[in-house]
Amino acid sequence: MREFGIGVIGMGWMGETHSRAFRALNERFHDSGLKARLVMCADVDAGRAETAQARFGFASSTTHWEEVIRHPEVDIVTVASPNFLHREIVRAVAQAGRHVLCEKPVGRNAAETMAIAQAARRAGINSCVGFNYRWVPMVQYARQTRDSGALGSLTHYRGRFFSSYGHNPLSQLSWRFEDDKSGFGTLGDLLSHVIDMALFLAGPIDRVTGLRHTFIQERPLPQPGVGTHFSLGREEDPSGPVTNEDYVAVLVEWAAGGRGVLEGCRVMYGPKCDLAFDLHGTDGALRWNFERMNELEVYHPSSKRETGLKADLHDGYARLVAGPEHPGHGQFLPGGGMALGYDDLKTLEAFRFLESIDANRPHAPGLEEALRVAEVQDAIVRSWETGQWASVAPLTAAE
Ligand code: NAI
Repeated sequence: MREFGIGVIGMGWMGETHSRAFRALNERFHDSGLKARLVMCADVDAGRAETAQARFGFASSTTHWEEVIRHPEVDIVTVASPNFLHREIVRAVAQAGRHVLCEKPVGRNAAETMAIAQAARRAGINSCVGFNYRWVPMVQYARQTRDSGALGSLTHYRGRFFSSYGHNPLSQLSWRFEDDKSGFGTLGDLLSHVIDMALFLAGPIDRVTGLRHTFIQERPLPQPGVGTHFSLGREEDPSGPVTNEDYVAVLVEWAAGGRGVLEGCRVMYGPKCDLAFDLHGTDGALRWNFERMNELEVYHPSSKRETGLKADLHDGYARLVAGPEHPGHGQFLPGGGMALGYDDLKTLEAFRFLESIDANRPHAPGLEEALRVAEVQDAIVRSWETGQWASVAPLTAAE
């Protein structure tokens, strides 16, 4: 049995979710020969650090994240702090020779993501980035279907992430709404998932042109150490300006010839967690939405011809329901139609990272994949500035 000591930095929503995931993988993957042990958690807010220690069973907690990295029993550090701390923390993790699980968006901008990836590369550490939606069994199956050639050549791809978390003007001005703390708004927070999914399923992107808009310009100030970006303030609270974008839309040309659209919004009233894609090829099509993450719709008329069904009577998308035959599902539930949820994706993410470290192979999605996402974001930003199409260019320069 190989055991990994885990340190977690930032005990908000994601820090809690990662802690639960490392605990869960010991049980879900009990026969894997790999194990995680919660060594130390850190939060600048002492109450959050202590509560998390007791709640998840960390051996210790601290208000100084540097102590997590220095701890001799920590092998993997999870960085779940707000984005403005990612560069400093991941660099320190790399210098200490620990492996890193960094939440997305890795940097506040392309230069930061580049510096972080460079530091990890130089130190020779392994990395994982929280593009957790890749681990949905039906998304993995979509990728397998594409790889099998069953869809033919890809012609169209549409990706989106619409969320309502900021639709209420009383949603607090958490760090996400401020460019110095978060970097970009929806481009970093939601579109990083959309871009990663698009690259995963439709391949490299050649060029883009985008637009952005901020619908809600001012929000109530939050209380430190309390709440998340889902929390509401009151009319009478002091307020501050929103300094990054709520909405992003992008036209895209894929290198392999496909065309399509990527879109994201954090203030859209109606959708809850509407992360979705439509993928079309010359021989078939797929569509999926996280709000129904255990289903995949498949349009593949040639399979109907093989079974002798008449295409004119049975033509249309078929709904597949996830089951143990789809990648990752069987580790959680023995039967089809029994639903996995968000936390299970984090358990899969954490376990796949341990597997990669154990096998001594670069993990994907890691910082190299985050760099590919940052390249597309960088081109989108250039197109915002010029109002023109922008080519996706490699980010390869040193720190
Ligand atoms: P959050 O605001 O709920 O939690 C952040 C925590 O970091 C807070 O407890 C805060 O007190 C703590 N913190 C702030 N400064 C610190 C310091 N100097 N040292 C230690 N702790 C400090 O934020 P949330 O939503 O958990 O986001 C964290 C990261 O996870 C972000 O990068 C975000 O983009 C990412 N994220 C990823 C998601 C995914 O689906 N992969 C979903 C939500 C967030």
